[in-house]
Amino acid sequence: MTDKNDPNYGRGEVTVEENDSLSPALRVIRGRIKETVSAQTFDIPLLPGVATQVLQMANNPKAGLDDLEKLVKQDQVIAAKILQVSNSPFYRGISTIVSLRDAMNRMGLTTMKDIVFSLSVKGKVFQARGFEKELENIWQHSVACAVISQMIAKKVGIDGEYSFLAGLLHDIGKVVLIQILAQLEEEERQKKVKEMKTLSKPFDPKSFKIDQLHDVLAPVVFQEYHAAVGAFVATKWKLPSLISQVIQFHHEYAKSEDARSITTVVYLGNILCHHFGYGHEETPIEYMNEKAFFELSLSVDQIKKLFDDIPAAVDALQTAL
Ligand SMILES: [Fe+2]
Ligand SMILES: [Fe+2]
Repeated sequence: MTDKNDPNYGRGEVTVEENDSLSPALRVIRGRIKETVSAQTFDIPLLPGVATQVLQMANNPKAGLDDLEKLVKQDQVIAAKILQVSNSPFYRGISTIVSLRDAMNRMGLTTMKDIVFSLSVKGKVFQARGFEKELENIWQHSVACAVISQMIAKKVGIDGEYSFLAGLLHDIGKVVLIQILAQLEEEERQKKVKEMKTLSKPFDPKSFKIDQLHDVLAPVVFQEYHAAVGAFVATKWKLPSLISQVIQFHHEYAKSEDARSITTVVYLGNILCHHFGYGHEETPIEYMNEKAFFELSLSVDQIKKLFDDIPAAVDALQTAL
C-alpha cells in the first residue's frame, strides 16, 4: 500500500504474491497478470472515443445538449439505443420519442451524459470471448452500483457529477482481468486445436475451457487484484484522480484520504448491490451494522427510504441499458 505522499497513491499499485500454495494453474495466471500489468506494453482496453468526449464535456461548463447531440450522431448504435432508452417505461412520457433531440430533452443533460458514457463503455470494453456470462453479471452489477451510488450521493449532498461514473467503473479491474484470462484461454484453445488435429481427433473449439478457470480461479484473482488493476486502468485512461481513488479503495473506504466521501458512497453502493443480489447472489446486510451509512450522516429514515427506492430505480436503468 502506498502512502498518501507517494505519487502512486490511489493509482493502482499492483503487487503480485510470489509464493502461493494454491494450484499450479493459479500460479500461471498470477504470473500472467504480473507480466501483463508490469509490461510497458500492457495492452489495456482503450477508453472509447465517445466516452472520452463525454468526460471532456463534463469539464466544460459551456457544453450543452447541442454538443452531446453532435457526438451521439457519430455513433448510430448509441443513437438508436438512446431512442430505445427514452421510450422505456422509466423515462416514457405520453408520446413516443422519435428524435434524438426529443430524447435528450426528456432525459436531461446529466442523465444523457451518464447513459452515453455507459453505452459506449459497454459496447467497446465489456467484451471477451468465452466470458460473456461473467461480463453480463459484472455489467448488471456496475449499472446497479452506479444508480445506487448516485442516489446516495444526492441524499448526502455530494456533487453527483462523478458518483454515477465511479459506481459504474468501480469493478472495471475485473473486466480487464477477464480480458487477460480470456487471452490465456484462447492461447490454450489454439494449442488444443493443433494437438487434436495432429491426432486426427474431432474437437469443437467452442466447448473448450481451462479447467476451473471460470468458477474457481477467476474469483480468486478478482479478489486479489481487481481494485488495484482497476485504479491502474483509470489512471491510464486519464480519468479524474478522484475516480481512480474510489476504484482502488471501494472495499476499504477508510483508507481513502482525498476521496473519502465519494469512496464511502460507492462502498455502500457496492454492498447494497450485494444485498439486493445485483449481478451476484443476494448477501443481505443489516444497515445498523454498517458504520459507513452513519459516517455519511444518513438518518435511519433516509436509509429506510433508500432501501425502498432502490429496486425500481435500478430495474429501470438495468432494463434500459
Ligand atoms: Fe469490487
Ligand atoms: Fe462490486
